[in-house]
Amino acid sequence: MVKINDNYLKLKAGYLFPEINRRVKAFRFANPDAALIRLGIGDVTEPLPPACREAMKNAIDDMGTAEGFRGYGPEQGYEWLRKAIAEHDFQSRGCDVNAEEIFISDGSKCDSSNILDIFGAGNRVAVTDPVYPVYVDSNVMAGQTGKADSEGRYAGLTYLPISADNDFAAEIPSEPVDLIYLCFPNNPTGAVATKAQLKTWVEYARGNNALILFDAAYEAFIQDPDLPHSIFEVEGARECAIEFRSFSKNAGFTGTRCALTVIPKGLTGTCGQGEQIELWSLWNRRQSTKSNGVSYIVQRGAEAVYSAAGQAEVKALVSFYMKNAAIIRHGLSVSGFEFYGGQHAPYVWIKTPNGIDSWGFFDYLLNTISVVGTPGIGFGAAGEGYFRLSAFNSRENVNETMERIKCL
Ligand code: MLT
Repeated sequence: MVKINDNYLKLKAGYLFPEINRRVKAFRFANPDAALIRLGIGDVTEPLPPACREAMKNAIDDMGTAEGFRGYGPEQGYEWLRKAIAEHDFQSRGCDVNAEEIFISDGSKCDSSNILDIFGAGNRVAVTDPVYPVYVDSNVMAGQTGKADSEGRYAGLTYLPISADNDFAAEIPSEPVDLIYLCFPNNPTGAVATKAQLKTWVEYARGNNALILFDAAYEAFIQDPDLPHSIFEVEGARECAIEFRSFSKNAGFTGTRCALTVIPKGLTGTCGQGEQIELWSLWNRRQSTKSNGVSYIVQRGAEAVYSAAGQAEVKALVSFYMKNAAIIRHGLSVSGFEFYGGQHAPYVWIKTPNGIDSWGFFDYLLNTISVVGTPGIGFGAAGEGYFRLSAFNSRENVNETMERIKCL
């Protein structure tokens, strides 16, 4: 008899975004003529940067020649891409990260969940609440939690509440933890961390033999030059952090797929016998067994992000979405909403009006103005009473959304 992974039975019925899709589908069925606008899932809408397209077309031509054809690529990703990343994204900001410490993959969602493969059972895990649901669900699947309570909080996880009361900055855990997920700029709240705040986390992790899993998928959206883009801008982070990054949101690769994970050489965890084992080697072993990486064509597209033209085009894309975020912020403010974020992140986090719950507000916006957002409770119990709008859409749709919201 085939036995299933019972941990899956602990999961809430559906992943957040498929549940939203289910409700939207039902709405569309009942209202086929409604002019629906989707500011729910953070999926980009603008075309790929020309520099990336050109590079991918050239790569396809390479593949059509005997000399240029490539089969399986190097497990960690092509060195020319890893070198470009190390130089532009890390060394240029003073981070001691080299190409060998970078692993190319098809997504930071995948990496931030697959990373659990290299950790043993029984690690105490801390997440913020609200949080990107992938961190929680992947821990549930891996058997790192007990069951969920009536509010959806899983036994065994340490939840660090973030709200307007603490400026969306989680407190250091009051109980010991081994793994800490941090995401800055934050999904879903749009909050950012200062270098001093990250330093506090690094000090905590180093002092308590904990490991920070730092998700920097939205770093390109930071507008203030004094804010850190990487955990490795903080001294000592090499001893206690792994960082995830993505080309999805800055270069529009959500459908193209390319991301990276940085695991510093020398970063270790403890094995059953008490010995220190290098995490880089474990992840390398895991990836070379379970993944064949990202296609040559896509990696060439990602490399083009670092060309002069690519840099300018990506900057323009980010500015476009951040202008959308500014329009959302302005529209919400004119309409009297309480909201946060949207200044260094493509997400605006709204307090739902008149105490209406998150799903109630979702249904209300869908049914009255045909606008789709994301209910805060989908990101955790402390997201109840909040609602997320994404700035990833056309200017026309964002303007139209704010016009509709004004009429509520
Ligand atoms: C979101 O809407 O939170 C994002 O699309 C999540 C993701 O990138 O996986």
